[in-house]
This record gives sequence, C-alpha cells and structure tokens, in this order.
Amino acid sequence: MHRPRSVREADVSGRRVLVRVDFNVPLEDGRVADDTRIRAALPTIRLLLEREAQELVLASHLGRPQGEDPAFSMEPVRRRLRELLDDGRLRLLENTRFHVGETKNDPEFARVLADDCDLFVNDAFGAAHRAHASTVGVVQLLPAYAGLLLERELEELGSLLEDPASPFVAVLGGAKVEDKIGVLESLSQRADSVLVGGKMAEQLRENEKHSHLQLELPQDVVAAAAFEPDAEAKVVPADDVPDGWLGLDIGPETRAAFAERIAEAGTVFWNGPMGVFEWPRFAGGTKAVAEAVASADAHTVVGGGDSVRAVEELGLADRIDWISTGGGAALELLEGKELPGVAAIPED
Ligand code: 3PG
Repeated sequence: MHRPRSVREADVSGRRVLVRVDFNVPLEDGRVADDTRIRAALPTIRLLLEREAQELVLASHLGRPQGEDPAFSMEPVRRRLRELLDDGRLRLLENTRFHVGETKNDPEFARVLADDCDLFVNDAFGAAHRAHASTVGVVQLLPAYAGLLLERELEELGSLLEDPASPFVAVLGGAKVEDKIGVLESLSQRADSVLVGGKMAEQLRENEKHSHLQLELPQDVVAAAAFEPDAEAKVVPADDVPDGWLGLDIGPETRAAFAERIAEAGTVFWNGPMGVFEWPRFAGGTKAVAEAVASADAHTVVGGGDSVRAVEELGLADRIDWISTGGGAALELLEGKELPGVAAIPED
C-alpha cells in the first residue's frame, strides 16, 4: 500500500500551510449536529500550530451544493471549530464546492487554493476517494504531506487488508447494493464471514447475479405493512415477506446468529445499519449489532455515517477500537482501490 510522507517530517515553522480537512458534517438548525470529523482533525491542526506555522488555511467541502448556496455555508463549522480551538492563525475557507472547479479538479481553482501557501497537508481521509482540486490538484503546486488522521486511517483500515486477526467478520448494511457491491466482492474473498443486513440484503437475495458471493443473509426480518414509523409490523422468515410488506429490520434469530459470529471474531469491520434505525421500532437489529461489536474481544473498526451515529447514540463509541471518519473512502480502500488523494502525496 502507498504510504504517503507524514506531516511530522514537514518543516512548517513560519510557513503558511494549506490543510485539507473533511468538515463535511451534519447540520441541524444551523448548528453542527455531530462534530466528530472536526475533533478528528484537531491533532494535526495542533501539531502545525505547536510547530509554529504562520497560518493554517483550512479547506473543506460541505454537502453537495449546486454552486454557491447559503444552506451549505461553512459558518456553523467555523463557529464550532472556534469553540474547540480558538487560535488567530486558523482561517477556514468557504465551502470548496461553491466553486465548479473543485469537483472537476480544475487547475485554475487549485491555483486559487494554493495561492500564497508554502505547503499542503491532507488530513481529509473522508474525501480521499475524490480526485478534486482541493485533494489532488493542489499537490501539483505545493509540497504535500499526509496529516495525522489520514495516516491513522490508512494504518487502521490497511491492517484489515493486510493481516487481520482471524476470524475476520465483516458486517455490512444499508439501503443500496450498488454502493457496496465492490466491497462485498472484495470482502467475500478476504473475510471469513460477511454478514449482510439492511435493505440491500433483500436485493442480494433476489438477484441471481450475486449468488456467487459468500454472504450470510438474514433468516428472519421485521416486516412492516407500510414504510412508516408506526406501521403494523411482525417478524417473518426473510424469504416469506407478505406481498406489499417491507422488511425494515433484521429479526431476532438473525440478531442472535450475527452476535454469535461477532463474539467469535478476531477482527470485526462494520459499515451500515441493519434496518431503519432512526425509527425505534426498526432499530433493534442495528442496536444488537452495535452491542455485539462493542462487547467483542476482537479488534473492532466501524465506518460510515449511520453505523458511527448508531454507536455514538448508544454510548458505545469508546468500546470500539477505531471509528473511521470515512464512509465511501473506507469502503473503496477495503475494496483494494487506490485513493487518489492518498496516491497524489509522495512517499518518503
Ligand atoms: C463523505 O461524507 O463521505 C465525504 O465527506 C465525501 O463526501 P461526498 O460523497 O459528497 O464526496
């Protein structure tokens, strides 16, 4: 695996440093609803400040705005960052995706970002699978280094690829099979068990073309008469969901079977909820998996917004060995793909 050179080796004293962070955080009522990604970037920011960088120009995207849109302004993030770390040398730029050149990796926009900066530190693991101006383009213009978070993510997720303690159990959930088919292909070869829940389990069961994958699909589901939080619900075998009903969670037998596999594991990777966990009646499966992962003796890694939110909300986060700040980036890495934001940074 490509090991980009570390910010620890950079001479930053008296220099202006462009730092790509992933501050793509959820907002609610104009406030940051979850600041995990902001806190995760603080060690790199502190290191640069301690080493007397003259100024840190922080750049991030937020959401997927179509051009300039006040609903996606970085202002709430700027306020939260100031509460966490108030230093006059920090300057957070406005949302990089307000500029069309960002996602096109336009060299002109990269020049605007790099302007007046002496070096570039990429700490945005969550955006490392994007070849954008702020993740890849600027590397043509400034000496580039990996931040501490980026390094740690590569180590933690890389260890799942390189030498995981066995049995290696992967638990994948979520709604869309298309988003995860690559990682399912890869994990079904690398892991000892791949447990699948969520809506995508149904799609996998129904579609013949996925039958070569070695997956453990739910035996039973909590089926609902409608896609509503209070819909009539009952536990049924997963291959016998009544017509017009929807499986919205894994059932009790599946929860027990998955928990048993997780308890026996040497390594666990979990991404994606087992059901519609934001509705309490369909949250039981995700909760059971979160508890099993937290209680496992295994080395445990959780990635992806929804599963991270589940472990945070259940107060289990400090019992997980590594909570990844990457969703898509973590999946692409586990798929064995090269991440453009990482590949762009020279090795030692
Ligand atoms: C994420 O939240 O996964 C990253 O910030 C990347 O965001 P994107 O999928 O909009 O590029």
